[in-house]
Amino acid sequence: MDFSTKLTNWYLKNKRKFPWRNTKVPYYIWLSEIILQQTKTSQGLPYYIKFITHFPKIEDLASAKESEILKLWQGLGYYSRARNLHFSAKYIVNELHGKFPKNYKDLLLLKGVGDYTASAIASICYNENCAVVDGNVYRVLARYFGIITPINSSKGIKEFKLLAQAILPNTNFGIYNQAIMDFGATICSPKKPNCVACIFKDSCVALQKKSVHNLPIKTSKTKIKHRFFNYLVILSKNEQIILNKRTGKGIWQNLYEFPLIEFKTEIELNQLITSSKFNSLFKNRTKYTIQLFNPKEILHKLSHQHLHTKFWVIKTNISFKNSISIQDLKKYAVPTLIDNFISEFEF
Ligand code: ADE
Repeated sequence: MDFSTKLTNWYLKNKRKFPWRNTKVPYYIWLSEIILQQTKTSQGLPYYIKFITHFPKIEDLASAKESEILKLWQGLGYYSRARNLHFSAKYIVNELHGKFPKNYKDLLLLKGVGDYTASAIASICYNENCAVVDGNVYRVLARYFGIITPINSSKGIKEFKLLAQAILPNTNFGIYNQAIMDFGATICSPKKPNCVACIFKDSCVALQKKSVHNLPIKTSKTKIKHRFFNYLVILSKNEQIILNKRTGKGIWQNLYEFPLIEFKTEIELNQLITSSKFNSLFKNRTKYTIQLFNPKEILHKLSHQHLHTKFWVIKTNISFKNSISIQDLKKYAVPTLIDNFISEFEF
């Protein structure tokens, strides 16, 4: 029996049950696949349920406010995925008259939809013969075929896509694509693969060469940027707090946060209160008290950045223009770093 038939048979007996597996509605499959990118299924599932409950139809998503979408997305990270979802929902409703693109080529034209998502939707919803290549697929193929080309090199990306496409079965492409992803997530997992129970234990090249744990290969990662964040939690007159909206193209676009002062290195109280940015927030002779909330800096890791963070709690009796009431804090979409602080700090 060939690789893809064996895998499909394994899946039909062992597949995990998820709500997006009971539908072929492209809008739902699109939602699930965008949510599941860089997210484990266990983490993505509650978000999928939230989204289809709030926005049962693509028209509901298209007409929602971006702030509502970001609030529901809060905690998933990679917020551009949510903004692109919104953008493409509006595009489909307004420009395509609500008609979801019906093949791989047209799906690729949607903002936020790349080769992986277009292949997933086209194969699952329309049974088009497009192979998906996500992290699970890279791992399964690298191990089974013993491929040492780095998966994050342009050569590797091409090689794996060609191979994945070449070994597709003759039919049931969507089922097979989900089979290889499930197999990678449950049997051929990154750290503790279950080689003993594996249906391919007699033919897996990596197992024979004892290189399961060395595959797939990734070239050395991009350098991590270290940033030093100082958040000012300014509690002002009448239980008000200052919250700013992040603009610009960097991380967390359009999410909310406390006033932020960034330095090139870790700083102490004196450097903070003598900095020009700090003093531009407080007029001369404004009375305030300031206390560091976390004596040990919080290290918040993103894919390419490490945020070394201090929260400074400042109490003052003046009022600020852009402040909101503390009770309203939870209505705003904030990064997990801020959300964790809000949960820990007893306002
Ligand atoms: N990961 C992302 N999408 C998936 C799917 N459809 N099945 C299994 N794992 C996935």
